[in-house]
Amino acid sequence: MSQSPESTTIEVKGVGRTYVRGKSSVQALADVDLSIRQGEFVTLFGPSGCGKSTLLRLLAGLDQQTTGEISIFGATPKNASARKDIAWIPQSSALLPWLDIRSNAALSSVINKKADRKGTSTRRPEDATAILGEVGLADFLRSRPDELSGGMRQRASIARGFAQGAPVMLMDEPFSALDELTRDALRIRLLELWEHHKKTIVFVTHSAQEAVLLSDRVVVMSPRPGRISDVVSIDFPRPRGWELVETPEFTQKVADVKQVLWSAWKGDE
Ligand SMILES: Nc1ncnc2c1ncn2[C@@H]1O[C@H](COP(=O)(O)OP(=O)(O)OP(=O)(O)O)[C@@H](O)[C@H]1O
Ligand SMILES: [Mg+2]
Repeated sequence: MSQSPESTTIEVKGVGRTYVRGKSSVQALADVDLSIRQGEFVTLFGPSGCGKSTLLRLLAGLDQQTTGEISIFGATPKNASARKDIAWIPQSSALLPWLDIRSNAALSSVINKKADRKGTSTRRPEDATAILGEVGLADFLRSRPDELSGGMRQRASIARGFAQGAPVMLMDEPFSALDELTRDALRIRLLELWEHHKKTIVFVTHSAQEAVLLSDRVVVMSPRPGRISDVVSIDFPRPRGWELVETPEFTQKVADVKQVLWSAWKGDE
């Protein structure tokens, strides 16, 4: 699918990453090409070890690719990150234990304002309290992280990510440590936030159901070395809710995405 250059937020061209330790080396990623449009919800989906986190870390500027180029709004990931164009939401909540939830969520806004004054950020932080309300934590603003459940902590962490005002959000399996019911609720909550705040989201998962529910496109990856096997468009109308999951069309799409994954594995043998 052709895209107009101005709508492209993230451009990945010929990217590879080889880890070298002593005499051995692991090629974690090879020949990755991917364009992500502004406002898109894209999921990196694949089995353990196929390079999903490696690719996400490269996008975040937390690691450097061995080959190829990545641009985010025309800048390198490191520069995009310094300009506060990127918010990183980790697998576990990583909130500061001595601060209450409101201060935790507002913290990145404070940092962002400082960057703003130094001229390194053009992004406006959003109202942390309002976003905490959107994730259902309005009554817990003064609670510290250890006074909340795991699901509440992860909601606070997501709110903190959104409060940064960064247009690009990178999320590495943010729901994997949660129980199934909490995970289900948070998936829908995330969709609501994404629709309201109009972010570009790159989301890592190894759940086909999660990938199909959330995404505009699912990037199916295969291991040894990690490559993109295929990119599957998910055209279900939005807003999406649990009614969608009950439909035969949804079940079929999940099966299709898994099929792409298994065919890539068979080809690998
Ligand atoms: N810092 C590192 N040093 C050496 N090898 C690494 C490093 N990080 C990742 N790898 C290797 O790169 C490959 C891809 O790892 P990566 O963490 O990106 O996979 P993943 O798809 O995120 O897996 P999972 O679903 O288990 O999180 C693996 O073979 C892994 O062992
Ligand atoms: Mg990973």
